[in-house]
Amino acid sequence: MKRLQKTLAAAFLTLSSTVVFALDDADAGKAHYATCVACHGENGQGNRALNAPRLSHLQAVYVTAQLQKFRSGMRGGANDTDAARQMAPMAVTLPDDEALTDVAAYIASLESPVSAAIVEGDVTLGADYYNQLCGACHGAGGVGNPALNSPRLAGSDDWYLEAQVLAFRAGQRGAHPEDKTGRQMRAMAAILPDEQAIKDVVAYLHSLTQQD
Ligand code: HEC
Ligand code: HEC
Repeated sequence: MKRLQKTLAAAFLTLSSTVVFALDDADAGKAHYATCVACHGENGQGNRALNAPRLSHLQAVYVTAQLQKFRSGMRGGANDTDAARQMAPMAVTLPDDEALTDVAAYIASLESPVSAAIVEGDVTLGADYYNQLCGACHGAGGVGNPALNSPRLAGSDDWYLEAQVLAFRAGQRGAHPEDKTGRQMRAMAAILPDEQAIKDVVAYLHSLTQQD
């Protein structure tokens, strides 16, 4: 009898540690990602017709942070763009914090093709702007810097990057009083001299994905 109890206890321990491990895994996030496929695509490739950006290039820590912002109303609130307001209720469907990190881990594990170039700009001028104004936070080559909360930009759709810089400039994104990291970026978006400069930086960032 004692022996049986011991065996059962050991079996229970093995089982529970397996379950805990499985929940931490990107596999758990896969189930949550089912809600996201309709707009962001099975491989996180995005869908321009729905204004839903590519996600597969993003670092998990940034995806989690953005999902938290969408849930809390820091992003996608009343004054934000139509696209951001569409995304906010989607983040709310995720049941808890664990689901956010799991789905973010799953997204980071996806691979998808980079979208075709749409925005026309001067890549050489864009490289100059980028290296002078953006690289300190987003890293050489647009790889991102999680220590500075700065997302990866290489690999992103050019139309989405342009729309985001414009939204930051217009005070639609990054304007919420508690959105500290959004505020940092908002100040930087305002520094670019004009809309053509935004197109130039974006064309440069998209050109980096060719070597990706
Ligand atoms: C109805 C379509 C739709 C669905 C479903 C949807 N999204 Fe989105 N998502 C969007 C749109 C549109 C944007 C762009 C928001 C913007 O322009 O600010 C977006 C933006 C995002 C971003 C921000 C990316 C960045 O680079 O900052 C993340 C992260 C994201 N979605 C994750 C998810 C996850 C995870 C799910 C599933 C739980 C999901 N989305 C479901 C439409 C959708
Ligand atoms: C002081 C550091 C800093 C500098 C310099 C900076 N950024 Fe950012 N950027 C950020 C942070 C932090 C975020 C994330 C904001 C958030 O959490 O919503 C961000 C977000 C972005 C996004 C949104 C990406 C996405 O996936 O949604 C774009 C686009 C962007 N930056 C472009 C630029 C460009 C172009 C420049 C140069 C003109 C630049 N950034 C300079 C800190 C910076």
